[in-house]
Formats: sequence, C-alpha cells, structure tokens
Amino acid sequence: MNKMTIEDVELKGKRVFMRVDFNVPMDDDGNISDDRRMRATLPSINYAIDHGARLVLASHLGRPKGEVNPKYSLAPVGKRLGRLLNREVRFCPDCIGAQTRSMVDSLGDGGVLLMENLRFYSGEEANDEAFSRELAEGIDVYVNNAFGTAHRAHASTFGITRFVPVSVAGFLMKREIEYFEKVTTAPARPFVAILGGSKVSGKLGVIQNLIDRVDKIIIGGGMMFTFLKAMRHEVGQSLVEGEMIQFALDMLKRAREKAVRFYLPVDVVVADRIDAGANTKIVTVQEIPEGWFGLDIGPASSKLFELALQGAKTIVWNGPMGMYELDPFSRGTTALAHTVAGCYATTIIGGGDTADAVNRAGEADNMTFISTGGGASLKLLEGKNLPGIEGLTDKHG
Ligand code: 3PG
Repeated sequence: MNKMTIEDVELKGKRVFMRVDFNVPMDDDGNISDDRRMRATLPSINYAIDHGARLVLASHLGRPKGEVNPKYSLAPVGKRLGRLLNREVRFCPDCIGAQTRSMVDSLGDGGVLLMENLRFYSGEEANDEAFSRELAEGIDVYVNNAFGTAHRAHASTFGITRFVPVSVAGFLMKREIEYFEKVTTAPARPFVAILGGSKVSGKLGVIQNLIDRVDKIIIGGGMMFTFLKAMRHEVGQSLVEGEMIQFALDMLKRAREKAVRFYLPVDVVVADRIDAGANTKIVTVQEIPEGWFGLDIGPASSKLFELALQGAKTIVWNGPMGMYELDPFSRGTTALAHTVAGCYATTIIGGGDTADAVNRAGEADNMTFISTGGGASLKLLEGKNLPGIEGLTDKHG
C-alpha cells in the first residue's frame, strides 16, 4: 500500500482524529451484542495513546439519516471502549461545534475522546464540504482505521482529508488492504474462492474479477439457484434472478475456457415455507419439488466442497451457503466453516454475514484473517479502489 500509515507520523501532543467503524450490532435493550469491530481497532488506539496523541475517535452507528436519534447514540460504545482499554474515555455529545472543540482542546497527551454519531448530521453521508471542514478544524493528523466504511465517500472518510495536514492509515486498515491485495494479486495456489449469499447480482463484480485469478470457484447460498436454473434445473420457489441467467451461463463458459473448476451444490435443503418451523427435506438438485424453497446446501454438497478444498493453499470465502440465521438452514454454512478452518491454507473470510457465520460456528480463531468490512471487502474483491484509502497521503507524495 503506497499510503502513509500511523507509524509514519509524529503523534506526541498532536490532535489526532481517528475515524473508526464502531457500527456494532446492539440488542433491543441497547446492549452491544458483538464488539469484534471495536476490538480490531485497539492496536491503533493503544499505539496512539502510547505515543502521546490527543485522540479524538469518530464513527457512525446505524443509519439515522441526518437526524439526532438517541437509539443510535454512541454513548454505550464509549462505555464499552473504556472497559476494553481499561482507561477513561470521555464522551462528547456532538461531533462539531464550540463544545466539541473545547472538549478536544482540554485533552491531555494520551487522552481519549469519543464523539457522538457522525450521521446525526446529513453532511456526513453527503460528503458536504462545510461539514468536512468543521470535522477537520484544529486537527493535526487524520487516521482512517474504519475499514468497514472505507467504501463510502463520506465527509469523515473522504472529504476531511482535503482539510487536514496529513492523512494516514491505521493498523487495521493496513492489514485489511494487505490481505486483500495479496490474495487478488499473488495468491499461493491452488486458490479457491467460495461465494454465497442470496443474489448473483450482489456478487457479479466479484465473480467477474476472480474468475480469471482462481483455480476453483465454489458457489452456494441463494445465488446457486440462478446457476442451477441456467443449467435447466427446476428450482421450485427458490430465489432466481431471471436477468442474471445469461451472466451465469457466460461465467460457466468462461470457467471452462480458463480451466477453472466450477463447483455447484448437488443437493439442497428445501422447505415448504421460509420459516424456522417449516417442513423440510433434503433433495438432489435434479428433484427440487414444485412450490418448495431451497434454503441451504445439503450434506452431499458439503462433502463435495470439502473434497474440492483439499490441497487449497489460499481460500477466500464471502457469503453464507444458506439462510444460516434460521437453525434448520444453517448446517451447510456451519459445515463449511469447519472445513475451511481445518484446511492448511491461508483462509480469508469476508466481513458481514460470513464473519458472523464463522463466529457462530466457533471457528473465528481458526481462520487466518476475518475482515471487519462486508461491503468494503466485496469492493476489494471486485478489484475496485476504496475512497477511504484514496484520500490518504501518498507515501512519497
Ligand atoms: C457496515 O456495517 O457495513 C459499515 O459500517 C457501513 O455501514 P453502512 O452500510 O450503513 O454505510
């Protein structure tokens, strides 16, 4: 990565604005149900504290659409962060304005301040220039460590970089970029991509970009039915994107031409309705009954994928194999998590649902790298640049 990082700048006594992605899931009582994204930023936060920065942390939470909404306050996140760091984290009830500035000014070296949700202002998502300038006011160093939001060109991820003296990447951002760069440019082979999730249209760019780089592709999740339909299977009520059938055929053809092995499920779990209490059965892909919904891959597919993964040296997995959030349709994804975890390969897991599924399967510690960004990791797999990186200061610029 040809961008400056937090290690390239002096932090002592500087006002450091660190954009983090503390967009963490919360339950109905406002308790944080998964703080992995917060933990992933701790090395950069601790580094800044240890180097005497006056640290201002900023994030969004949810999609409050430019309105102040207590449901999306970052106050509980501040409390959790204080516990994780085992030190005081002051909370600022705003992110711009006189009160914010005076709280920033009162920070001593090594002090930490968490600001309120950036998206309480519409200027954030609009990448508004005036809002960007206000965020940058008095800041000496900008650090982007919010990989999960790096695909958004917002004021705090992009606009601000024009109004601060220097913009650098945090450790998390650097690590994420390096893993995905390595995998898309110089992977150890055999290189296998596993793609799931509900829609082909959501993975179109990824399939197009990876098909020329991988040795094998494994397809599961709702998107498998568009491929099966393209191969003239009857798929009952399963999700099919009619407008993607030609694309699916083109990709199957391209895989053949490039000698890329293309694996589709051979059996599926079908249900008479989309519900945890539905009647279910396992059928081959040739015998999906009319009126039934395919909601997971079956056990023979799990076995097939396990065989296909033997000997892989690099595995990238993005997207669950079925509707894993409902117990009867979670087995294919769980089985795959165990298989991938057991491979002697570099295993890279996309953020969002895939990270969640791997965590539920209890295999998070057995993967090489789990991304903290769903949308952002997809963009990198598509071979696209991220605005959150582009705005940073070039190393030799
Ligand atoms: C995410 O959770 O994917 C990031 O925090 C970005 O959130 P957004 O999709 O609301 O921009």
